[in-house]
Amino acid sequence: HFIDTLYFVLTLLEVILAGRDCLVAGDSCSSDETCSPRLRTLRQCVAGNGSMKLGPGARSQCANAVSALLSSPLHGCQCKRGMKKEKNCLSIYWSLNLVESYPYETVQRNYDYVRLASITADSDVGMTTVNRCLDAAKACNVDDLCQKLRTEYVSVCIKPTAKSGLCNLPKCNKALRKFFDRVPADYTHELLFCPCTDTACAERRRQTIVPSCSYESAAKPNCLTQMRICKADYVCRSRLAQFQYDCAPSEVSASGCQQGNYGACLLAYTGLIGITITPNYVDNSTSNVAPWCSCATSGSQRGECDEFLGYFTNNICLRKCHKTVPINGYSISVQTYACKCRINVTVISTSII
Ligand SMILES: *[C@@H]1O[C@H](CO)[C@@H](O)[C@H](O)[C@H]1NC(C)=O
Ligand SMILES: *[C@@H]1O[C@H](CO)[C@@H](O)[C@H](O)[C@H]1NC(C)=O
Ligand SMILES: *[C@@H]1O[C@H](CO)[C@@H](O)[C@H](O)[C@H]1NC(C)=O
Repeated sequence: HFIDTLYFVLTLLEVILAGRDCLVAGDSCSSDETCSPRLRTLRQCVAGNGSMKLGPGARSQCANAVSALLSSPLHGCQCKRGMKKEKNCLSIYWSLNLVESYPYETVQRNYDYVRLASITADSDVGMTTVNRCLDAAKACNVDDLCQKLRTEYVSVCIKPTAKSGLCNLPKCNKALRKFFDRVPADYTHELLFCPCTDTACAERRRQTIVPSCSYESAAKPNCLTQMRICKADYVCRSRLAQFQYDCAPSEVSASGCQQGNYGACLLAYTGLIGITITPNYVDNSTSNVAPWCSCATSGSQRGECDEFLGYFTNNICLRKCHKTVPINGYSISVQTYACKCRINVTVISTSII
């Protein structure tokens, strides 16, 4: 009897948890006679470019559908990055969430934090000669999934198409997303956020995403133009929204992140790789990251553009720790930028503590 009850509770739990998946919630709504017509109305509203194009009568109909659906299983539903039918799931998510928010299921708090912490800051003091990026590549090579998907994206991204002689960017992007969505962060984060103290290491790190195909292009487009292109695509828009949510900076939080979850911020950052606004390291002498775009020609929208770009170039959440640790009589200021440390040693005392 107890076991029966347990199974019942577990099934119930599964239903509740599964209800958080917008695809599952959409399916269960479609088979419900009160929910289904509302969802259909809402889909028409969304297809009609929001309620704008449908006229004032339709506008209230759309608003009613939204508020009714907010008390259905669709409310609070989310999607998984890289899931099957991700786009369908996100289209349901965005039909209910008309303001920017966070479409993907939250990663466990402090997810991977111990490991991330171990690849940053203090543990690196005194072992700066090791090429962590090379070690990360070796570690990836001995893991079946990591090795397979890395080989896959590298070969797709470096292969020129017979027609143009250029790489196939859409295919390269897709393979990159597959890699960063499916391979555990243990491997992907070590590859992308390995700390470097020399240009050889930093160059390897910069080359991780095969930037000649996935990042650089002939001219640097305007960032706001790129952002608009991104927002017209459910996947890109969602990855960006998630990044802006998880990496929101905060001056008052100890972590520098409003959500207080640095691991989630890094994960959201890797979610941007393989979309219109793919970020990367800008050179091999710093740890600065940015998408391949510029605000130079933004005119009156310069402020808005700088704000967008500043989310990458001047973000205390992404920039992470900035602290001074006294070790053996030296004051060592450790700077990490998205888990990459640069160590600046200044002698403050010659006596050993
Ligand atoms: C949607 O409608 C708004 C307001 O009418 C308009 O400014 C915008 O360009 C439209 N977007 C698309 C993608 O049609
Ligand atoms: C670092 O970048 C510069 C400029 O792109 C390049 O000339 C140099 O060869 C790179 N260094 C390494 C070690 O790859
Ligand atoms: C190291 O720290 C000193 C003193 O804080 C500063 O003047 C210098 O610019 C720093 N060097 C680097 C490479 O960050």
